[in-house]
Amino acid sequence: MKFTKTIEVKNIFNKISYKYDFLNNLLSFGLHRLWKKKLVDLLEPLKGEDWADLCCGTGDLAFLISERVSPMGSITGIDSAGDILNVAKKKSEQKKNKFIKWEIQDVLEINDHSKKFDGICMSYGLRNLNNVEEGIKKVFYLLKDKGRAGFLDFNHSKKNSLSNIFQKIYLRLIVVTISRLFNLGPEYAYIEKSIRNFPKKKELINIAMEVGFKKAEYRTILGGQMGILILTK
Ligand SMILES: C[S@@+](CC[C@H](N)C(=O)[O-])C[C@H]1O[C@@H](n2cnc3c(N)ncnc32)[C@H](O)[C@@H]1O
Repeated sequence: MKFTKTIEVKNIFNKISYKYDFLNNLLSFGLHRLWKKKLVDLLEPLKGEDWADLCCGTGDLAFLISERVSPMGSITGIDSAGDILNVAKKKSEQKKNKFIKWEIQDVLEINDHSKKFDGICMSYGLRNLNNVEEGIKKVFYLLKDKGRAGFLDFNHSKKNSLSNIFQKIYLRLIVVTISRLFNLGPEYAYIEKSIRNFPKKKELINIAMEVGFKKAEYRTILGGQMGILILTK
């Protein structure tokens, strides 16, 4: 069952890879860039630090972090979908950025407890993982002591709250309708289902604390549409 979802998610992102950046810009009215920048600002990557962007997709966070940690540090973008990672690599070439390392890998299959990263970030990735707790555990083991991690994603708000109703309307009327024009309706309809299965703010904080993080903070943006989880080891 779990295996099935992983394959399904990989297929979705391979299929939408060629339109991913275009639709992200269109469907968020360009706002996803501001939220990603906000996440990176909150995490404050420093020159010389080693970072990873997990579920990096086309690498937006990796590019932002590369500006902060280069030339001495490192940033590795990791994703399980080869096609979307190829888009990231192409963007690297266009930007003449040879600094970022790209790795194809399933985050849940990383078995590295070497505590090698000062920081880890993930945008719109955690919700897609087969097992959110396992994903947070992987991040914990990959981080150095006192390392920090940040996750940006849709906020799973209270059922029937204003923000929940607005989110459903936005996803059904705008996201699915527009993506249908590109024959990607079912792939984008998946977002609403994935939010329903995603832990809410308090649950995310509890999971992180149980995993062993010393500090977990969660803030919502855009009236509760998105959420940012910041963890300190
Ligand atoms: C919604 S996209 C987000 C991409 C990028 N981080 C962004 O914010 O634009 C989710 C990404 O997570 C990747 N992903 C999903 N499950 C994964 C897993 N188990 N391991 C690695 N990557 C995964 C997908 O391939 C996809 O590129």
